[in-house]
Amino acid sequence: MTALPKTYDRIAPIYDLLDGPYERLWKRRLRVDVFRGLDGDILDAGAGTGCNIFAYPHGARITAVDASAPMLEQARLRARRVGRAIDFRHMDLANLHFADATFDAVVATFVFMCIPEGGQLPALRELARICKSDGEIRLVDYCMSERPLVRAGMRVMSPWLRFAFDGTYRPRTEEYFEAAGLFCVHERLLFGDVVKMTILRRK
Ligand SMILES: C[S@@+](CC[C@H](N)C(=O)[O-])C[C@H]1O[C@@H](n2cnc3c(N)ncnc32)[C@H](O)[C@@H]1O
Repeated sequence: MTALPKTYDRIAPIYDLLDGPYERLWKRRLRVDVFRGLDGDILDAGAGTGCNIFAYPHGARITAVDASAPMLEQARLRARRVGRAIDFRHMDLANLHFADATFDAVVATFVFMCIPEGGQLPALRELARICKSDGEIRLVDYCMSERPLVRAGMRVMSPWLRFAFDGTYRPRTEEYFEAAGLFCVHERLLFGDVVKMTILRRK
């Protein structure tokens, strides 16, 4: 396991409280978009406290992994509350215990923004390995706005994001797509120009 999830072990009991305002204002809406059209065996990679659960497509078989056991425990409780069957596994994205080509789709929402630089490529390689060759990998993360005022606001908020969530508004994940054997088939902004979904496939 990487050192990073310790942050999430600590904040797991209050994560939904901390993130609640963002969730209610805009995150909840975009989660539905992220899972739209997916079916079959889906991996929620870095599922956290299970904020995506309500958006999982009905009929799909969902596996949810996270490197933080306390975050995963919150997700388990949420799944029980809403009566959704999910296969929860405590795993590091850089070392997934699944056979090659297990999943029809892999989704990671706000996860790569908190994976340290050295962990990005190993995690992407694993996602590429466990996704079927005709499957999709959907990554959702922050990106820096082009608008000066919004950009300035993001700069101001950056220390908070780092302190509270060990995250960055400038993840450099796309620099590793090629080396991970992935290519981008589609990119779409989901919230202003500060949250982007990247759809990837295996080369
Ligand atoms: C900001 S939270 C996002 C959680 C959820 N995906 C969401 O959209 O609300 C990031 C999550 O990624 C998990 N995570 C970070 N690095 C990971 C890794 N290497 N392997 C698995 N999970 C990881 C953290 O433990 C945390 O639960």
